[in-house]
Amino acid sequence: MSQKLALLGGTPVRTKPFPAWPVFGKAEEKRLLRVLHSGKWGRLNGSEVAEFEQRFATAHGCKHGIAMVNGTVSLRIALMAAGIPADAEVIVPPYTFFSTASAVIEANMIPVFADIDLETFNLDPKAVEAAITPRTRAIIAVHFAGQPADMRAIMAIARKHKLLVIEDAAHAHGASYRNQPAGSLGHVASFSFQSSKNMTSGEGGIITTNDDALAAACRSIHNCGRIPTGIWYEHHVISGNYRLGEFQGAILNAQLDRLEKQTNTRDRNGQYLAAQLSKLPGIHPQVRPTDCTRHSYHLFMLRIDGQEFGAPRMPVIKALQAEGIPCAAGYGWSLHRQPLFRNKAFGPYLPKSSARLNYAKVHCPNSDLICREQCVWLEQSIFLGTRADMDDVAKAFAKVHQNREAIRA
Ligand SMILES: Cc1ncc(COP(=O)(O)O)c(C=O)c1O
Repeated sequence: MSQKLALLGGTPVRTKPFPAWPVFGKAEEKRLLRVLHSGKWGRLNGSEVAEFEQRFATAHGCKHGIAMVNGTVSLRIALMAAGIPADAEVIVPPYTFFSTASAVIEANMIPVFADIDLETFNLDPKAVEAAITPRTRAIIAVHFAGQPADMRAIMAIARKHKLLVIEDAAHAHGASYRNQPAGSLGHVASFSFQSSKNMTSGEGGIITTNDDALAAACRSIHNCGRIPTGIWYEHHVISGNYRLGEFQGAILNAQLDRLEKQTNTRDRNGQYLAAQLSKLPGIHPQVRPTDCTRHSYHLFMLRIDGQEFGAPRMPVIKALQAEGIPCAAGYGWSLHRQPLFRNKAFGPYLPKSSARLNYAKVHCPNSDLICREQCVWLEQSIFLGTRADMDDVAKAFAKVHQNREAIRA
């Protein structure tokens, strides 16, 4: 193999594609056709979504699962169900997908950003504690990339200040913390089944909880404010139709059957690759605390320290891509730097408090640093591959490092 970089005309380390996503087969086909021919396509008269809710909840250590249209709506409904008053503050990380904070605004509450830890990429409990004010009512802990957040510390803070903890487990299907499933670690959790996620129905989401009252409130809000003892056209709370359809339920039941095995494969490969890449100067894979007993590797994340590595992030990414390794820089800004927050483009939401908010003053240097110059993401389907696939990824990184002089400029 030529050692010349593929970017500069050499032979790429990898020409074979990595495993494709989504994975599907006869099981999806069988269930989908059953739904089709039954004519019961909606959640209210079919059985796929109901079956999925129960199975997914049980697999994630919970009594209740309420499936809905996506993982943004499920975050908002979890906040609404908790009865948190308008203008209350909800602590969120700045390094996450937009929904973690936009759902707070749509629930008419104020997102307050607390920085992440530079090694784990999850909320830093010290930053959470520092962000608490008398108006704080909740914390959204994102299990970023599929690695559970520091839930012992976060739950201790929540107990001390009487706060609700919502897990944003959009990346964390099948992950576990001290052998307890993600989704059962806080008071209520939200998962996403959008196309890129570790199990998918194209779009979809679910709330899991062990709290009977929260579950009842979520179920009501996702179903037009109905209650089990009410008549059909009886609506109790502000709500809507956010029910998941039966075709999606059918696909998710089949996807769930594969989750355990796929999660173990991703976790094994992710740990192996982290150990290989850590040998290179300036490469810092997401640090995994011993509390993380299973990482779902929705993303494999690492920091490149350009000084230590000998070349900056973007040329390294371009060189890796040319070697046949799909990778990306991830978010370009911390969330509070997005135009939505900079311009407070909140529409009809937060009418009372918007004037006093100033997101330009938010200080989250760790999130800013990884967005601006350090973070690299590899997606979950790569980790459904073999050890030889991981070796190819490691080889490409090593090759780019050997040739760092050539891409430094
Ligand atoms: C961390 C996080 N939270 C929430 C969501 C929202 O999920 P959805 O796209 O299903 O609305 C996503 C997904 O893309 C996400 O990555």
